[in-house]
Amino acid sequence: MRRRSWFLALFIVLLALPVQSKVSKAKHIPPIILIPGDGGSQIEAKLNKPSTIHYICSQVTDYWFDLWLNMELLVPYVIDCWIDNMRLVYDNVTRTTTNAPGVEIRIPGFGNSSTVEWLDPSHRSPTGYFKDIVNALIPLGYERDVTIRGAPFDFRRAPNEHSDYFLKLRRLIEETFQYTGRKAILILHSMGAPMMRYFFSHQEQHWKDKHIESVVSLAGAWGGSMKAVKVYTSGDNLGIYVISPQKVRAEQRSAPSLAFLLPTPELWGPEEVFLETDTMNITTSNYKEMFDALNLPDAYEMYLDTKDLIRNTPAPGVEIHCLHGTGVDTVEKMIYKKGTFPDKPNVVFGDGDGTVNKRSAELCLKWSKSQKNKIYNVPLAGIDHMDILRDKRSIDYIVQLVSNITKKNQQRENRKIRNLAKLEKKKKTFLAESEISDERQTIIERTKFEIPIKDVGSREHFTTYGLTAEEDRRQNSIMNFDEVAGHIVVL
Ligand SMILES: *[C@@H]1O[C@H](CO)[C@@H](O)[C@H](O)[C@H]1NC(C)=O
Ligand SMILES: *[C@@H]1O[C@H](CO)[C@@H](O)[C@H](O)[C@H]1NC(C)=O
Ligand SMILES: *[C@@H]1O[C@H](CO)[C@@H](O)[C@H](O)[C@H]1NC(C)=O
Ligand SMILES: *[C@@H]1O[C@H](CO)[C@@H](O)[C@H](O)[C@H]1NC(C)=O
Repeated sequence: MRRRSWFLALFIVLLALPVQSKVSKAKHIPPIILIPGDGGSQIEAKLNKPSTIHYICSQVTDYWFDLWLNMELLVPYVIDCWIDNMRLVYDNVTRTTTNAPGVEIRIPGFGNSSTVEWLDPSHRSPTGYFKDIVNALIPLGYERDVTIRGAPFDFRRAPNEHSDYFLKLRRLIEETFQYTGRKAILILHSMGAPMMRYFFSHQEQHWKDKHIESVVSLAGAWGGSMKAVKVYTSGDNLGIYVISPQKVRAEQRSAPSLAFLLPTPELWGPEEVFLETDTMNITTSNYKEMFDALNLPDAYEMYLDTKDLIRNTPAPGVEIHCLHGTGVDTVEKMIYKKGTFPDKPNVVFGDGDGTVNKRSAELCLKWSKSQKNKIYNVPLAGIDHMDILRDKRSIDYIVQLVSNITKKNQQRENRKIRNLAKLEKKKKTFLAESEISDERQTIIERTKFEIPIKDVGSREHFTTYGLTAEEDRRQNSIMNFDEVAGHIVVL
């Protein structure tokens, strides 16, 4: 009977070896999570409004409809209804936002791929978002909604109002890890980068080590963008779609995410004037003057709420590949002649991708010395902020990175399989050689001794039957837990 406890122990060791993942063994691809930027998620709305701003606007709908993105809502007149449904209302006491009265909003397709591949659910307008990247990955064995997943969010809001989203994202990454048995690659675009900068600063290092393989930042606005200043002043469509900048400005100014995207003092010093009028010189140290001149007191409060969310956070603690376009004219400074503020600036351009300034996309370099995980800065000449999602150079880079990691996963798996085979062989040899005659058995049973077992959890001692020195050595070598260390939790 007692002898059997040995085999039982051995059996448990073998059981405790890593199990095969549910995904086909032939595939060693790391799962991918897509994190969109500002304007990069679909939004659905349902209305039961106390009033509308125009007789052509719907007041009540008993169905959910596409609010973003639906090109039909962005045409003259109808766009006013759209703005009134899309805007947020700020409460300067609770310091949070709510939807406009009577507007219900939801972000469809969390965890799905298609909702971030296309912004227009009908796929009619030329609004592909992550679709080219996803299409390039499918031939490597990826499956939409399973190994490639999207994490859309309400991009009108900043991280301070996204605690639910970050919890959901954490769960999505864990779930994908459990399902595939592999760490994920996060692909971020634009505002997705500062969003994740916030997220990473709130996750434990061991959690990141366990779940995140690598991060690809595409045109990441790590330290904000001068475009945000332009949106507040003269308006801009944030490089995503051709909509009248001044029309869409009213909606954008109601969004805390815009305040969150203002240039950070980490990169723009107190001496650098980036907005100049006959009456003021604005730097990162006197934003209040700008908001006062624009008569946007709520926006200033939103700025106060968001300005320190990611400022000088510790290094993210994950490997990052920072891909970004350079050499494209990007707003660096706005100069207003008397009487032209805020609609008609003279724009001075600097380096960047047309939307995000080069220094912001490269902010990740700041962490190359303060964390063990590698940082790669990958400037891509002439690629604009949205083209980086479809340019051959960025897509090839992602495909190569994924292939390299797949190869690494495969090598690791092969090593595991070889070790398992070795262990199996040892078990067979032991079982064959331990068929002991009845006569010897009785002799052995007279001499009992203990063999310590190195257990990861409890340092237990197994009492076993007396064995010859050779048998004892063999058993101990079979029970060499170092070979499978890390995989045994209970014995
Ligand atoms: C908060 O909003 C109210 C109403 O709009 C306004 O009267 C008040 O001055 C605001 N307070 C601050 C601190 O902005
Ligand atoms: C998300 O994907 C699942 C599985 O493919 C599907 O059943 C569901 O309808 C999708 N949801 C959306 C909003 O696309
Ligand atoms: C803004 O800065 C310029 C250059 O330093 C200076 O000549 C000008 O007087 C300043 N304007 C204001 C309103 O402070
Ligand atoms: C992939 O691996 C090759 C060979 O080791 C290396 O030269 C290349 O830089 C890697 N590419 C990426 C994107 O990591």
